Amino acid sequence: MEKTRYFDHAATTYVKEDVLKEMLPYFELNYGNPSSIYKIGRENKRAIELARERVARVLNAKPKEIYFTGCGSESDNLAIKGVAYSNRNKRNHIITTKIEHNAVLETCEILEQEGFKVTYLGVDKNGKVSLEELENAITDSTILISIMTANNEIGTIQDIREIGEIAKRHNVIFHTDAVQAIGNIKIDVEQDNIDLLSLSAHKFYGPKGVGALYVKQGINFQKIQNGGHQEKNKRAGTENVAGIVGLRKSYKNRL
Ligand SMILES: Cc1ncc(COP(=O)(O)O)c(C=O)c1O
Repeated sequence: MEKTRYFDHAATTYVKEDVLKEMLPYFELNYGNPSSIYKIGRENKRAIELARERVARVLNAKPKEIYFTGCGSESDNLAIKGVAYSNRNKRNHIITTKIEHNAVLETCEILEQEGFKVTYLGVDKNGKVSLEELENAITDSTILISIMTANNEIGTIQDIREIGEIAKRHNVIFHTDAVQAIGNIKIDVEQDNIDLLSLSAHKFYGPKGVGALYVKQGINFQKIQNGGHQEKNKRAGTENVAGIVGLRKSYKNRL
């Protein structure tokens, strides 16, 4: 196929040459299972931990707060269902917006069918959420606010830090889908008061099929996929090591 002029890098990006180069050995030579205790396994485990450190450093998080996933959609699902299910006996209200990606909207719809209450906030003509409306929507049963950092259709960037402040003030957990933001704007999870954050490598010149979820230490969330005990028993499945290595390299290039 010929090289094309492609202008929709919000949909996806190509994999940069140096990213691909870094990934290739993990398909051909260094293809061990990171859970194996012998050398080739341990080397793969080390590659994952280096990537975890990199992602953590850029977000101003701790490595143990980073969980690798299969994509941005999975990170959103894990964040929202994970928090909702692990707190369902205490509180059952979630606040989100009408302009979230389907990974958030459909997840919230499923949770509604399971008995959770969801408020879908509207936005103004520029796609902005009103902070006043957000604060007014919080009730004693609100457990989670999930509002995207940057919109995938019109590019609106929300007032994430202020949203995080409101969440903190009301003792509500704050998740942001930052899939469109990471690689383009600087996010500091501490300063921006973010409890959970989703990202996906194919939006910043990394490979498809690999994402990450930041979860602040101390936030309870339940795994939604059962099986192996990878990713501190929060995400079952043999890790996509080549993808994770690609994510690390593309992350380094962009920020
Ligand atoms: C805002 C937003 N969230 C989530 C996703 C899903 O990411 P992925 O394609 O890695 O599942 C996308 C992808 O377009 C997106 O733009």
